[in-house]
Amino acid sequence: MCGIFGYVGDRNASQILMQGLKDLEYRGYDSWGIAIANNGTINVIKRKGEISKAEDLCLEGRIGIAHTRWATHGVPSDINAHPHISYDGALAIVHNGIITNFEALRERLLKEEYKFSSDTDSEVLVNLIHSKMNDVGLLEATQAALTEVEGSYAIAVLSANHDYVVLAKKESPFLIGVGNDEMFFASDIMPMLDYTKKVITLHDGDTAVLTQNSFEVFNSDSKVTRSATSVPWSKKEAELGNFAHYMQKEIHEQERTIQEALRQPAETLEAICSSLKNAERIFITAEGTSLNAGMVFDLLLSEKGYMTKCLRASELRHHKNQITQDSVVVAVSQSGETADLISALKDIKEKNPKVVSILNRVGSHVEQLSDHVIYIKAGPEIGVASTKAYTGQIAVMYLLAGNLNGSLDETRSLLLSTAEKVHNILAESESEISRIVEELKGQRDFYFIGKGINHATALEAALKLKEISYIHAEGFAGGELKHGPLALIEKGVPVVVIAPKDSTYQDIISNAHEAKTRGAAIIGVSSETHTLFDYFVKIPENHSTIYPITSVVPLQYLAYKMAVALGKNPDKPRNLAKSVTVK
Ligand code: G6P
Repeated sequence: MCGIFGYVGDRNASQILMQGLKDLEYRGYDSWGIAIANNGTINVIKRKGEISKAEDLCLEGRIGIAHTRWATHGVPSDINAHPHISYDGALAIVHNGIITNFEALRERLLKEEYKFSSDTDSEVLVNLIHSKMNDVGLLEATQAALTEVEGSYAIAVLSANHDYVVLAKKESPFLIGVGNDEMFFASDIMPMLDYTKKVITLHDGDTAVLTQNSFEVFNSDSKVTRSATSVPWSKKEAELGNFAHYMQKEIHEQERTIQEALRQPAETLEAICSSLKNAERIFITAEGTSLNAGMVFDLLLSEKGYMTKCLRASELRHHKNQITQDSVVVAVSQSGETADLISALKDIKEKNPKVVSILNRVGSHVEQLSDHVIYIKAGPEIGVASTKAYTGQIAVMYLLAGNLNGSLDETRSLLLSTAEKVHNILAESESEISRIVEELKGQRDFYFIGKGINHATALEAALKLKEISYIHAEGFAGGELKHGPLALIEKGVPVVVIAPKDSTYQDIISNAHEAKTRGAAIIGVSSETHTLFDYFVKIPENHSTIYPITSVVPLQYLAYKMAVALGKNPDKPRNLAKSVTVK
């Protein structure tokens, strides 16, 4: 999704901003730009396509704003790229989010003789702010303009004639980074990590004025205090090192990240478990990969007799009438900034349930909406296709379930022993995965089946494959096969069977039979091979491991290797964004 980065200080702003834009690339973008204010003018460079080298672009000036755009209103082009300037060049804006009433505002401004060169809602917004600047300062003009705006935004407004910037936030992430005699702001922590770890998260409705060494935040016309958090991440953790891609690096990091996820303060586990124990009903909600992890938690809790329901965040509102103040809503998210999740949590607020969230990033919007937070501590995840966050979420879920059960120590040892096996699983499955990729890379469809807790693995493995290799892939519960999907099976169609030797084994093998009889090529994921399997991905014996972790790791790797073999960049899948901050 779109990214914002900005600087106010003593250094050359364009150099800092260009480097920062590179740090935002992983979010996905189709165009980029920077605007620098200097001696009463604003200079803008913006382009469709890849970000240039920082050294190729150097504008004079010590205050500036920058943006990576992921098109919503208006096609990707040089003109539609941000920053947008007011018709007279006095103001520039970068904007994340969507202004839904921009057409009506545009019509009105056209009558007032404003002119527009792009198709974007953001250009309307900068001119609207400009139209309010008659007798007031930039902050008041921005605040006045925003009262007429519907939609979501994180905006930074730069003026040719001021040595400060104005920021505003509603439903789109926005952070201030406090440096040493310099200030930063960004939609994402990554570009700021080179300079500061001291971060302030803006709240919805906040506007802020940022100078080189101060910031003031306002909400509903009053000045408010927003305290700083220290971000426990370093830039080094986000370096690629010797890996070809971030996804490959993050798959291999899982041994360590699962171990990190296990380092949880006893009081956090206790507080969350006490809420879960007292809950009349537990709703688990998330999107994408986090939703698949949520399915694992759903099963773990329901096995223990808890009344649970796992729902896509964008669908939660349709079940709102079941939520009461005695419910607990568990929100699962790597970023804590997924718009559908934030909107779902706001929507159910009137019901007053307790909100527990399982997050990776600190200082997010979901954190602000939660009563309790547990962090998975996976560090920065750069690959759009989530891997280490998924296994970190599952590790934390098992830990919570173990604590509820009174078997925390045993669960922790089991998770530790699972983490230690990640390296071997990858090493031992490498050649078979290469064979699968080589022989099946021309296939149009892949199906994944699993039962019980392994159903989530089937869904997650299918999601990984489709996201980055663009092969059509679906995950099913084994029993579902004969109620429809079996019609899709014909000679040679790959069916991946998640078959650890647990209570689901016999049933899933029967389902594999059904597929094999119709000609499917069976890829078995198990600790033991079977005559049905045309390909065999070996995972360790089950009694000492957590299956939703050991089975998913080689399938993440399969998706990665398939994407690479097909010439796709697994870190930047087309049309997808790491963090989906618009609904
Ligand atoms: C997007 C990403 C997925 C991610 C999902 C939820 O769809 O492409 O990789 O799983 O958002 O993100 P979250 O940050 O809430 O876990």
